[in-house]
Amino acid sequence: MQILVTGGTGYIGSHTVVELQQEGFEVVIVDNLSNSSGDVPYNIEQITGTLPVLEVFDLCDLGKTEALFSNYPDIEAVIHFAAFKSVGESVNEPLKYYHNNILSSVNLLKCMKDKEVNKMVFSSSCTVYGQPEQLPVTEQAPLRKAESPYGNTKKIMEDVIFDTTRASAIQAILLRYFNPIGAHESALIGESPTGIPDNLVPYITQTATGKREFLRVFGNDYNTPDGTPVRDYIHVVDLAKAHVVALKRLLESKTLSKCEVFNLGTGTGYSVLDVIHSFEKVSGVKLNYRIVDRRSGDIEKVWADTSYANRELGWKAEKGLDEMMLSAWEWEKKLKN
Ligand code: UD1
Repeated sequence: MQILVTGGTGYIGSHTVVELQQEGFEVVIVDNLSNSSGDVPYNIEQITGTLPVLEVFDLCDLGKTEALFSNYPDIEAVIHFAAFKSVGESVNEPLKYYHNNILSSVNLLKCMKDKEVNKMVFSSSCTVYGQPEQLPVTEQAPLRKAESPYGNTKKIMEDVIFDTTRASAIQAILLRYFNPIGAHESALIGESPTGIPDNLVPYITQTATGKREFLRVFGNDYNTPDGTPVRDYIHVVDLAKAHVVALKRLLESKTLSKCEVFNLGTGTGYSVLDVIHSFEKVSGVKLNYRIVDRRSGDIEKVWADTSYANRELGWKAEKGLDEMMLSAWEWEKKLKN
C-alpha cells in the first residue's frame, strides 16, 4: 500500500513523511519544489533509513496528475499539503493563490475519483475561524470571512472537499492546524522560509543568529494578559503524528461521517512575549526585539478546544513550548552552518 503525500518536501509534509515511514507506510511524494528543496527526501532517508519516492511536477497539470495515478496503482490514500501559504503574498497576488491552491486540489480530487482512491487527509487551518467569539474554539464554531486570499483558499477547499465527499465515494478528514512550529529532533528537517519570514518563530531564530537585526512585536495593546496576541503553538512532530492517526482512521473505516473535521492544537494559548521568553530561556540568547504597531489582519487570541480530537482520534499533542523553541533553535543553527 502506498500513500501519496503532496507537498511532502515542505515543512509539515516532510515531518509527516517521516512519521508515516516510521509507521511502516510506503510514501510517494509529489512536489513542484516551488518552496522547498529536492534534497529533503535524502534528509528524510537519514532519519528513517528509507528514501521516499519524489515526483517533481505541478498538480495544476491535470495530465501529469493523471499519469501519476496510472503509474502508481498501489496508492490507497492521499495526504494533501501542497499549497502556497504566504498570507502577505496572497493579498498582493490573489490569482496566484486561487489558481494554484484550488486548481491543484480540484485536479487531485478528479483523479482520485476516477481511479477510486477514496481517502484524503486535508491540510486546513484555524484561520477559517477568524476571531472566534468563544474560546477555546471548537470545530462547531461558525466560520468567518477569510482575512486573506490564502485563508480563503483553505475555506473554499474545505467546501470543495465536503461537496465531493457527498457526491462520490471519497471520504475525507479536514485537519485545522493552529500554529505549527519547531522542527524534528534530528535537526535534519524543519521550516526553511524563503526570503524574509512572515511567521513569528523563524523570525525569532533568524534574529538570534544575527540574520535579522531585530524582531518586531506587532502590538502590545491587545486585550490579553501581557497585551501581545495569543496563539496555540503546536510542535510540528505532534501535528505530523496526528496525520498518521487520521490516515489510519480512514483506512480502517472508523470515520463517523464522510467528511470529518478536527482541530489540531495543544489547547493552550501563549502570547508573543511568552514565546520570546521561552526562546531566551532554552537558547541562552537575549533576543533583540521592539514593540511596533499592530499588523493588519492579525487576530487577538485563539486557541483550540482539542477535546474532540483527543477523544475521537485518541491523539494528544505532547510537546511543550520550551521543547518547540529548542528544536526550532537547533534547526536554525544547523541551517546556518
Ligand atoms: C499566520 C496566518 C495564518 C496561517 C499561519 C501559518 C495571518 C493573519 N495568519 O498565522 O492564516 O495559517 O500564519 O503559519 O497572517 N508576530 C510578531 N512579529 C513577527 C511575526 C509575528 O509579533 O515578526 C506575531 C503576530 O502578530 C502573531 C504571532 O506572532 O500574534 C504569530 O504570528 P504568525 O507566526 O505570523 O502566525 P499567525 O499570524 O497566527
